[in-house]
Amino acid sequence: MNVTITRVFPFLLIVLGVFLWIGYSITELTGGGQKTSAAVDISPEGGESIYWGKGRCFTCHSVGGQGSAVRGPNHGQFGDKFPLPMGARAAVRASERAEKLGSEFTAVDYVVESLANPGAYVVQGYKNEMAVVYAPPISLSLKEIKAVVAYMMSLGGDLDMAAIDTAPSEVTAAFYAKISAAAAAGGGDPENGAVVFEDNCSECHTLNGEGGEIGPSLTGISAKGLKHISESILQPAKALAKGFETYVLVDNDGRQTVGLKTRDEAGEVDITKANGDVVTVAKADIKSIKIDDTKSVMPDDLSEALTVKDYQDILSFLMLQKPKAEQ
Ligand code: HEC
Ligand code: HEC
Repeated sequence: MNVTITRVFPFLLIVLGVFLWIGYSITELTGGGQKTSAAVDISPEGGESIYWGKGRCFTCHSVGGQGSAVRGPNHGQFGDKFPLPMGARAAVRASERAEKLGSEFTAVDYVVESLANPGAYVVQGYKNEMAVVYAPPISLSLKEIKAVVAYMMSLGGDLDMAAIDTAPSEVTAAFYAKISAAAAAGGGDPENGAVVFEDNCSECHTLNGEGGEIGPSLTGISAKGLKHISESILQPAKALAKGFETYVLVDNDGRQTVGLKTRDEAGEVDITKANGDVVTVAKADIKSIKIDDTKSVMPDDLSEALTVKDYQDILSFLMLQKPKAEQ
């Protein structure tokens, strides 16, 4: 098992490195070129160049008569279907959102939501297939997203740079936090991460009140930081969570049970195995019971089961699990 990890871990790191390097090179190629390198102007002009370049918005959207893509709504004023350009349209959609949510929602909130959580409001007549623009392959940074929002708002809207950049509303600030967390985790796609989590982890881990109880609850886990979370997945035994040490119990017949000690009282001990089975052993029947700190009950071959993308997606999903507040 440990051999597997020493093989898989460097491999994952190399793949991640290459992945980030490719992303970086592409940014250099398609972004503002050498003179601006990674720095984007948070302005409608900066956003316009991202819209028609790195952001690939033009592959699905057009602006009035500019461009020819129709997979997503036109962002300009266009025929009967789009009587209002995006900035003005956002104000109308925002009042719909405010009514539905029963709380304040500004035009900027609407545009930011379209980017941060596209599934929340799906424009009538279109499919829920707007790209997650802060995840690969597009991977816009928060700055680039702010620039694009400024461009959208400049199309017939009330362009308030403070609301977009320096003094965002609570709703916008929460979306920005989500985007930053996802970007910090290598730009993973948290939506897919949630699905991967459900398939591979929820049998053992509770998250926000749902899931199994073999491992510790992961509610609010982002507080422990990206490094701890990624190590916990790649090398579970490296830092066993307190109270979740692995016990090896051998009874008088020589039978061995490995798992978590979930009860120790009244002459009996419960060992919960990785599959959830609980084995009860009378203390009189125990030959030896020891902690094995080289093993975790959490499987150490998960990194083999997950693709690099799934791994990044799950990291970004877990980095969004904030302790209480917001959301
Ligand atoms: C893969 C295609 C695709 C890409 C790429 C894409 N979008 Fe979209 N977008 C859509 C679709 C489809 C919708 C309509 C469904 C919905 O509301 O989610 C949409 C909706 C929107 C809306 C809401 C429009 C309205 O009328 O309310 C905005 C704003 C938006 N996109 C902005 C962008 C920006 C900015 C980019 C680039 C950074 C972008 N989109 C990239 C497909 C795409
Ligand atoms: C068979 C049960 C099991 C499965 C499946 C499992 N875990 Fe675990 N996990 C545990 C146990 C037990 C611990 C505590 C011991 C340890 O730290 O290794 C743990 C610890 C963790 C921790 C550290 C928690 C903390 O508070 O420090 C993280 C993060 C974690 N798991 C994430 C995941 C993810 C992500 C997946 C799915 C890819 C997963 N686990 C699948 C049982 C499991």
